[in-house]
Amino acid sequence: MDSFKGKVAVVTGGGSGIGRALTLALAREGARVVVADVDEGAMAAVAGEARGHGVDALTVRTDVSDLGQVQALAERAWQAFGVVHVLCNNAGVAAWGGLERATHRDWQWVLGVNLWGVIHGIETFVPRMIAGGEGGHIVNTASMAGLIASQGLGVYNTSKYAVVGLSETLAKDLKPYRIGVSVLCPMGVETRIRESAAPAVELIGRYLAPDAVADMVLAAVRRNELYVITHDEGLEPLRRRFERMQQSILQRKKG
Ligand SMILES: NC(=O)c1ccc[n+]([C@@H]2O[C@H](COP(=O)([O-])OP(=O)(O)OC[C@H]3O[C@@H](n4cnc5c(N)ncnc54)[C@H](O)[C@@H]3O)[C@@H](O)[C@H]2O)c1
Repeated sequence: MDSFKGKVAVVTGGGSGIGRALTLALAREGARVVVADVDEGAMAAVAGEARGHGVDALTVRTDVSDLGQVQALAERAWQAFGVVHVLCNNAGVAAWGGLERATHRDWQWVLGVNLWGVIHGIETFVPRMIAGGEGGHIVNTASMAGLIASQGLGVYNTSKYAVVGLSETLAKDLKPYRIGVSVLCPMGVETRIRESAAPAVELIGRYLAPDAVADMVLAAVRRNELYVITHDEGLEPLRRRFERMQQSILQRKKG
């Protein structure tokens, strides 16, 4: 996808942080936007800002953990615009604390939003996007926590590793339909996510501005790149992880 002008983009969690920045970057590039969030005041404000770029903007209150609400979101988007080209499955929440203490509620809440939210987006939007025949792009927001495990982030890690795996396969599955897939894997970004639960883990690395992250995502969509790894600081832990996996094979071969 080399231009967003006149395209239709749906952004979940579009009321704040990375989702807000994605919505506004897409609007700035001329895309019509659908903002989906549970926070009605926030998404209305973002839609207002998007209209300031001269594009149509729709808000649909959507809890992405509820399949029926995501289906209703798709229905509204197609009713309003007749097509969707870009879907950003971005809504997410964080829970902190050791896995030995994680409650059933923690698992249900975090996987419900971070993983099932993405699944609901895919099962609802992808068949309609394919039927539309215009190609497009899916952006799934994972995290560096979907590539590197951190003590105290296990529930979140589980949800984000799943989103990375899902996205890697989805990219292969959707290639014949000219629908690209990118998976966003940031480290720290200056957003409200740490307000949803008291952080017990201090993330390493810099905190980027959401706008900078959104610009990286749009560039990756244009180039149809799968991974959007926003922080240089990710290189070293990623290298160590793969080195350990490689060692496992090499040691075994040595006997
Ligand atoms: N901020 C970071 O450091 C960071 C790092 C890596 C990944 N991420 C990921 O980025 C994504 C966006 O988070 P953010 O940092 O912008 O946080 P944020 O809290 O600023 O924004 C998240 C938005 O999602 C909405 N939301 C929460 N639950 C929802 C639900 N069930 N349905 C629909 N909307 C819901 C919130 O109302 C909010 O507007 C998340 O998936 C998060 O895991 C964030």
